[in-house]
Amino acid sequence: MFETKLTRTLKIRYPIFQAPMAGGPTTPELVAAVSNAGGLGNLGAGYLTPEQLRSTVRKIRELTDKPFGVNLFVPEQPDGSEDAVVQMTDYLTTYRVQFGIAPNPSTPDFSESFEEQVQVLLEEKIPVFSFTFGIPPQDVIHAMKQLDTVVIGTATTVAEAELLEGAGVDAIVAQGYEAGGHRGTFLKEVSESLIGTIALVPQVADQVSIPVIASGGIMDGRGLVASLALGAGAVQMGTAFLVCPESGAHAMHKQKILTSSEDSTEITRAYSGKEARGIRTAFMSDMHQYPGQIPDYPIQNALTRDIRQAAAKANDPEYMSLWAGQGLRLANAQPAAAIIAQTIEQAEALVNNKFHYSGM
Ligand SMILES: Cc1cc2nc3c(=O)[nH]c(=O)nc-3n(C[C@H](O)[C@H](O)[C@H](O)COP(=O)(O)O)c2cc1C
Repeated sequence: MFETKLTRTLKIRYPIFQAPMAGGPTTPELVAAVSNAGGLGNLGAGYLTPEQLRSTVRKIRELTDKPFGVNLFVPEQPDGSEDAVVQMTDYLTTYRVQFGIAPNPSTPDFSESFEEQVQVLLEEKIPVFSFTFGIPPQDVIHAMKQLDTVVIGTATTVAEAELLEGAGVDAIVAQGYEAGGHRGTFLKEVSESLIGTIALVPQVADQVSIPVIASGGIMDGRGLVASLALGAGAVQMGTAFLVCPESGAHAMHKQKILTSSEDSTEITRAYSGKEARGIRTAFMSDMHQYPGQIPDYPIQNALTRDIRQAAAKANDPEYMSLWAGQGLRLANAQPAAAIIAQTIEQAEALVNNKFHYSGM
């Protein structure tokens, strides 16, 4: 019933993507479970070394013969003076003492090499390649397409979507304000690019001629039907899949999502130096008082990494990054296949009963 141009192109049964979520949630088990259930599982690979990336892609292939996607972060040139880094390192010492970790952050590299990650993906000939935070060099998009890899970019405004279409991508994720995790914004300031999903999707769909994937706050069949009505060819759901048993998210992260409400999140630069939506924590509040300038991504991300890791080890959610979207009250800790089946069932019931469902 919900076949779209995009489901035909991708050869998937249902127009449901499990969002790529870098940092652990998108295990091979989660990606494969979603793809095996008829959706498109996506690996968030932004933080993986080339070796980890290759072995994870191979593991996914052992678990499914269905299409899946891999997502990378397009690198950016961070602004940030030496002084700002020294000042932040100093400021973070309190937390290092609190968790009993070395006084200086271990930051051998601020981020993984995009070129090396891309090389692995080209060698592994993956079905779908998606990216966020910008537009990769033309030769990367071209090389992927030469291998029949479907290429998908991320936009938070119509102007970004138009640029992505011009760069030759096959489809666009329209990421609304509600979305959990990092903002994909790359043209203007994030504060000028905060468009809600319901406003963003139809405006992007009207302005580009390639399929649009709605993302941000979509948690169930209602969100799916609404997105298709707005002109999307599929939805990309992150928070909904974050709490699955197959997800590698920390148990505290899952628990916080399952016990928080729609007003529990905020967009912050505190953890990574790039705006991202997550559940409010003591660390986020503390950083409101920070007197200096928070260094840009990926510097701040590297400076806070071992604090976040130590907090995770100590099961202390107040110093972990608890990325989540505004729809979190609708999250349900069920296996990925059940989330897909229920989303489709609810969407079909809505359409078949002309939008009458219990509760309306
Ligand atoms: C924990 C987490 C990690 C994320 N990591 C990525 C990522 O690596 N790449 C990406 O394109 N989007 C990432 N996102 C954003 C998702 O692609 C998507 O836009 C978002 O989850 C949609 O909003 P929702 O969480 O309300 O469903 C992440 C989101 C979350 C919650």
